[in-house]
Amino acid sequence: MNEHAAPQSLSQRADELEERMMHELGERIATKSTLFNIADGKVEMPSGPALKAANPDKYFLMGADPRLPKMPKKPTLIDFFNNRFASLNHLLQSATHALKGGHSEKVVLACLLHDIGVASFIRADHGYWGAQMIEPYVDDEVSWAVRTHQALRFFPDPSVGYEYPEMYIKYFGADYKPEPYIVREYERARNHKYYMTSRLICVNDIYSFDPNAKVDLNDFLDIIGRNFRQPEEGLGFDDSPSAHMWRTLMWPTRFL
Ligand SMILES: [Fe+2]
Ligand SMILES: [Fe+2]
Repeated sequence: MNEHAAPQSLSQRADELEERMMHELGERIATKSTLFNIADGKVEMPSGPALKAANPDKYFLMGADPRLPKMPKKPTLIDFFNNRFASLNHLLQSATHALKGGHSEKVVLACLLHDIGVASFIRADHGYWGAQMIEPYVDDEVSWAVRTHQALRFFPDPSVGYEYPEMYIKYFGADYKPEPYIVREYERARNHKYYMTSRLICVNDIYSFDPNAKVDLNDFLDIIGRNFRQPEEGLGFDDSPSAHMWRTLMWPTRFL
């Protein structure tokens, strides 16, 4: 390249990126949802007609994104762990901690799943998203605990030796106060019959990992098998109230 050439404009670079993406996608046009752009600070989405006009001989991607790991026809929870969760270590560490502490299988499963909202989907309100994803497939004690741990994390419980996390002071500042809806959630949760299950997620929700601790998803296959009602048709294809969430994870760049 000529070193005196004018630097590429933003739109030239965007065009190049789009070009490269098209190449990876073959004959399909992948679109980004508004949410992906909002997370970059832009309230916008690519215009369907404009994309089509720029690529008149191509169709929009309506199925699997070839850039992502391939999912089987009837995906299981394990397939999502292996192919769609960005990080497993924290979940496995928490569940291993709960297992070693001799807690019930429901508590261990709740620890294993407590942050799947973050690992797969979105950080904001991760307890609520994660609980919705699993609700049709687990005991309500497990999904309730996953939903509520998001609020309980901010409130100490000396009866089980749980303190406000040091990490939160580092992450959010010493003055950070949870939103009022989180305070209300905590207050509702305090007298709930499943309070301790959710509290035990917090107790096992460890941030200072032991780098030498061996963690392995295989250690939890039996607990998952006994406590997660894997749908015969595969997650995403069972018409459950959260099937669409699993499909979205599977095929996130579909046009509709
Ligand atoms: Fe969490
Ligand atoms: Fe966590």
